Amino acid sequence: MLRKILDLVLTTLAVQSVAQVPYVAAGKYPQAPELSFLYTAYVDCKGSIMSEDGPRGKRQAIPIVGGNFTGPRLSGMLPPGSQHRGTGAEMPRYAADHFLGQILDLGADWGTADPKTGIFSADTRYNLRTDDGADIFVQTSGPTSPLGRLHLRLLFETGHKEYYWLNNIVAIGTLTPVEVGVDSSVLRIDAWNFARDWNRTPWKG
Ligand SMILES: *[C@@H]1O[C@H](CO)[C@@H](O)[C@H](O)[C@H]1NC(C)=O
Repeated sequence: MLRKILDLVLTTLAVQSVAQVPYVAAGKYPQAPELSFLYTAYVDCKGSIMSEDGPRGKRQAIPIVGGNFTGPRLSGMLPPGSQHRGTGAEMPRYAADHFLGQILDLGADWGTADPKTGIFSADTRYNLRTDDGADIFVQTSGPTSPLGRLHLRLLFETGHKEYYWLNNIVAIGTLTPVEVGVDSSVLRIDAWNFARDWNRTPWKG
């Protein structure tokens, strides 16, 4: 009995103290961190080659077979005659602030659908190759949002000195279907990362 009264008093106190916190006042939240644009990728996928109920829900295996990516803050070369996606203008052969890389025919999305909600979450591994030859291993994951896009976390891994900073970034992205066919699809991924100053990594020695 005493225990119950004590619980009631503690609960009441807790509710009152929460209610007194002026947490909705403007400017009281910490400022949201700034993101900087990383790249836009177009990912070519084949139709799922597996769709099975398992211990983690319905797992698919969707081959990632190609595509490309471009973004500022990464150096590289553009092939002759490359056109700017937005304006159609011809890009210079060497562009200091743009690059065009390819997505290799190497990966897949082993995403699952949550059996409790039906919400699909991506779970991918694939490889990027920059135009100047750096190989970058990418892992992404994240759920379908209520508006139908996927929200992604992206992890990068590379041993290439010019792109080594990618190992240290924390990146997020959105995935929007561009074309969806019976046996193939094209997906657009826009990616950003914390900290605009990540564009080179000083090496020791
Ligand atoms: C990038 O890939 C997409 C999807 O495959 C394609 O439509 C687009 O033409 C490619 N862009 C370039 C510059 O090759």
